[in-house]
Amino acid sequence: MQRTRGRLGAGGTVAARWRHGGGTVAARWRGGGTVAGWRRSWLVDRPPRAGYRAAHLDMAKKIVSVATLVDQLRATAGAPITSGRILDVLGSVRLDEKSLKRYLDHTDSHYSRHLIHRDDHFDIMALCWMPGQGTPVHTHNGQLGWAFTVRGALDCVEYRWKGCDRPENQDVSGLDCTAGGMQVNLEPLSTLTATPDGPINTVTKRVTIHSLAVPPDCDEPVVSFHVYSLPFDSCVVFDVARGSCHRKPLRFDSAPSGYDVPLRA
Ligand SMILES: [Fe+2]
Repeated sequence: MQRTRGRLGAGGTVAARWRHGGGTVAARWRGGGTVAGWRRSWLVDRPPRAGYRAAHLDMAKKIVSVATLVDQLRATAGAPITSGRILDVLGSVRLDEKSLKRYLDHTDSHYSRHLIHRDDHFDIMALCWMPGQGTPVHTHNGQLGWAFTVRGALDCVEYRWKGCDRPENQDVSGLDCTAGGMQVNLEPLSTLTATPDGPINTVTKRVTIHSLAVPPDCDEPVVSFHVYSLPFDSCVVFDVARGSCHRKPLRFDSAPSGYDVPLRA
């Protein structure tokens, strides 16, 4: 696996642990033991563990509430939404974790998705992860995406599509692919470890296939903040072992009242 540089927002501080060749180049958290059953009140009232705390806080960054950050993102509408413009917004502030409290709810059964805001341009959400949880390898419908952690870490592995037996299924309007391939060839490219105040993981039109997972040495619940443009309610999921793919509907675990979005039953 190739070592890569992280993508930083403006003024970002490199506090990531770079993984290379399967090893983690970082001091491991020495607390030991797997923590289960953490919930929102416990989470935000306690400081993060040392293992994935930002190594060098950038004091020039203004601490903002989630409401303020959503307003800043909404203010970018009116001009083309580019990866760089949103990186500048996200990389110039530090998100106040306490303002996220109402959106957080970790569960042992799956990583959970909690909508914060949706409009014609953006899906903005908080994701909650327990140790060991992660996504399958998936695509993003040609969307742009940005993600960083507020607490803990996420390994973000990028893949390149090298071919499949149903390439014609990509010739569809409004989606990246109808999926259904049975012989899909993906190549892992790089791993970026997102940490608080560290690199912001991006999805672009050039690199749109990835997976996210809590690193093996991160034994605390993880909170991450995600922005997508445009909104989406499904994605292509890959079964890497079998070489197949299928389209999967996506659901939120919670959403503020007034949003008509698919919710997990
Ligand atoms: Fe993703």
